[in-house]
Amino acid sequence: MSHPLAELDTERLRGLVAGELAAVRARSAVLTDAVDESDLVRQHSPLMSPLVWDLAHIGSQEELWLVRDLGGRAPLRPEIDGLYDAFRHSRSSRVELPLLTPEQTRAYVAEVRDKALDVLDRSPLRGRRLEECGFGFGMIVQHEQQHDETMLATHQLRAGEPVLTGEPAPPALVASMPAEVLVPAGPFTMGTSSEPWALDNERPAHRVELSTFVIDAAPVTNARYAEFVVAGGYDDPRWWSDEGWAHRCAEGLEAPLFWRFDGDRWWRRRFGLLEPVPEDEPVVHVCFHEAAAYAAWAGRRLPTEAEWEKAARWDPATGRSRRYPWGDAEPTPGHANLGQRHLGPAPVGAYPAGASPLGVHQLIGDVWEWTSSGWHPYPGFEVFPYPEYSQVFFGGDYRVLRGGSFGTAPSAIRGTFRNWDHPIRRQIFSGFRCARDADAAETASGVAAGRVG
Ligand code: AVJ
Ligand code: FE
Repeated sequence: MSHPLAELDTERLRGLVAGELAAVRARSAVLTDAVDESDLVRQHSPLMSPLVWDLAHIGSQEELWLVRDLGGRAPLRPEIDGLYDAFRHSRSSRVELPLLTPEQTRAYVAEVRDKALDVLDRSPLRGRRLEECGFGFGMIVQHEQQHDETMLATHQLRAGEPVLTGEPAPPALVASMPAEVLVPAGPFTMGTSSEPWALDNERPAHRVELSTFVIDAAPVTNARYAEFVVAGGYDDPRWWSDEGWAHRCAEGLEAPLFWRFDGDRWWRRRFGLLEPVPEDEPVVHVCFHEAAAYAAWAGRRLPTEAEWEKAARWDPATGRSRRYPWGDAEPTPGHANLGQRHLGPAPVGAYPAGASPLGVHQLIGDVWEWTSSGWHPYPGFEVFPYPEYSQVFFGGDYRVLRGGSFGTAPSAIRGTFRNWDHPIRRQIFSGFRCARDADAAETASGVAAGRVG
């Protein structure tokens, strides 16, 4: 498939890149202008950087790749490089560093952006692999988008009155949907070799053969998850792995992060607002161990990463893998809950236009979905352009998450996009859906359905 970006002439592509750069910077500004200076430099949680660190780090990466590497220009402030190197300083220690002040940080990122736009004007956006189809610019756009999601998670951890606003999420439009969907046996194409802005870990495209399996048509909701809580799921080691149970005990986990029981009902705190837990929204802020325990209690399991991607991309009519569940078109607000438009998940059934051909809903947006898979390279993986994005994490204590959340920008997510985090993390916008092996009758029908020609 030829990609829409590849068809654009250089001038149009420059315009598109400039538009993406401006849009993500506007969001970074909202996230950092929403609070005062003392709040920007504060450590809201040992799990997170001060917001001012994220902003300067965004500028620092942009300078490194667009101004210095692609532009061949001299460093603007070489003395600060080390401060904003994520590998040198843990998130919890960044507050102690002699960071740029908020004012200096804003001036720095603006100066870098100015120079980056100048480099963009002169770039052929072809030839060198880092320039081809604007990849380097796309990588930096996505990097800032990822940090905007991280900053949104910092906002969620921050104490105090609400400072961010979002539009209400759309209501459920689908009156009813089947609980689960059967995905027929057979091969499908996982990953991509043709998506211009796909990151190294999404490459290359390769065939994967799966047995028939069954996957939930929607993410697990708060109502379903609360049943597990009320049934004593957090007190019964049968549902937990040894590692998960040890973590549950050490941390005293009893419910998703930000949930409180007031003797009568469950409440949650969301961006400074206390509200009753909405029953029909996907559960969010659970760690991998909680997701896996729920699945075991429900007689299910988490999907593998390959199962998730087949459910999201495989088109049974053509055998082809799509860019998104709904097809190859870029996400619109009608397809998925993305881009921090709503500041929370939408109820299950809110995005019928975003469903996959098999009828699996809300795979993209709303909540990141834990899978059972560890973080590993695809066969044929090549580092590009630097090992610290993906490669150094391969084989570590991580699980893959898929699909993006309400906090993820539309151009930072695709059917092939792979995220990863430690299995204990839950300050991220993480939820899940369940899967299971097909039974004998389902397998027989799935094998028949998956047979091509
Ligand atoms: C892909 C979300 C795991 O935030 O740790 C940001 C993305 N890499 N800066 C992260 C990233 C470098 C990364 N995740
Ligand atoms: Fe980063």
